[in-house]
Amino acid sequence: MNKPVVLTGVKPTGVPHIGNYIGAIKPALKMAKNPEMQGMYFIADYHALNSVQDRKEFNQYTYEIAATWLALGLDPSKVIFYRQSDISETLELNWILSCLTPKGLMNRAHAYKAKVDANKLENLDADAGVNMGLYTYPILMAADILLPQASFVPVGKDQIQHVEIARDIATYFNNTYGETFTLPNHVVQKETAVIPGLDGRKMSKSYGNTITIFAEPAKLKKLIFKVVTDSSLPTDSKKTEDSTLFLLYKEFATLEEVKEMEKRYLEGIGWGEVKQKVFYVLNRELEKPRQIYNELMENPTKIDDILKEGAMKARALCKPALEDVKRKIGC
Ligand code: TRP
Repeated sequence: MNKPVVLTGVKPTGVPHIGNYIGAIKPALKMAKNPEMQGMYFIADYHALNSVQDRKEFNQYTYEIAATWLALGLDPSKVIFYRQSDISETLELNWILSCLTPKGLMNRAHAYKAKVDANKLENLDADAGVNMGLYTYPILMAADILLPQASFVPVGKDQIQHVEIARDIATYFNNTYGETFTLPNHVVQKETAVIPGLDGRKMSKSYGNTITIFAEPAKLKKLIFKVVTDSSLPTDSKKTEDSTLFLLYKEFATLEEVKEMEKRYLEGIGWGEVKQKVFYVLNRELEKPRQIYNELMENPTKIDDILKEGAMKARALCKPALEDVKRKIGC
């Protein structure tokens, strides 16, 4: 019997940050350790192409993401780890699914809608700066998910809609041609799906408020000390809810440490001391991976070899699946 597939893709558009780590990478790594499932993890480089159109950057980002996942503990002997662009079968399915997907479904996709809304606010043409890659982004994502028959898709909150769209597209296909695709489910870490950034808003590259995962210790400390706090005195009692520092701390500290910190907030603690402690727990967890990351980035051929081997395994699954689809549509 085949194990259920857990699959996720990461778009290489820049150095991943702590928000990505907590929201997507960490839960996905946890699932990768589950022996009851077949893990499939890939670098969604073709998804990045609609925004990264500099050859060097495009190439560099892929290595950065791959090295990040490997450094954080993804084991390529247990999960299939590959580059999206190495799986040409996905692109064939992408076209087939495009022909079954109503245009209206794409009009409602939030990344496209957000762009249109922003254009309208600036009195620009609704579709200014929108390429077809952005517009049909969810279809390629559906192809990524459906071809290897993924059951579970760990994603950040902002990607839930895309997984739902993949489900809708799978349903259209199944209704038209008979049961073919497994309906995928999104998996989102429940408690703190939104990690606040330096300014308290959601940590996001577009807000420029991120803490990168492998910042060197001095830089990491500097970033943490930039986290915005209120003007309360060290002796003032503080609220843990809505405290950016507390939310960050909670993700990296042990249960006892969190309990102790809650007590200290209640009694009163200086923000400087909180920041010091946040730095301590982050650095504790990231120190080793940072070292592995740096080593991998110095040996990119090692990364290439791992991704090539992953692509071979992924294609072995995707090829027969595509043949089945083609047969069903009458090719
Ligand atoms: N769209 C996802 C993101 O921006 C990346 C991605 C591409 C993905 N294909 C996927 C995620 C398939 C999960 C499954 O983060």
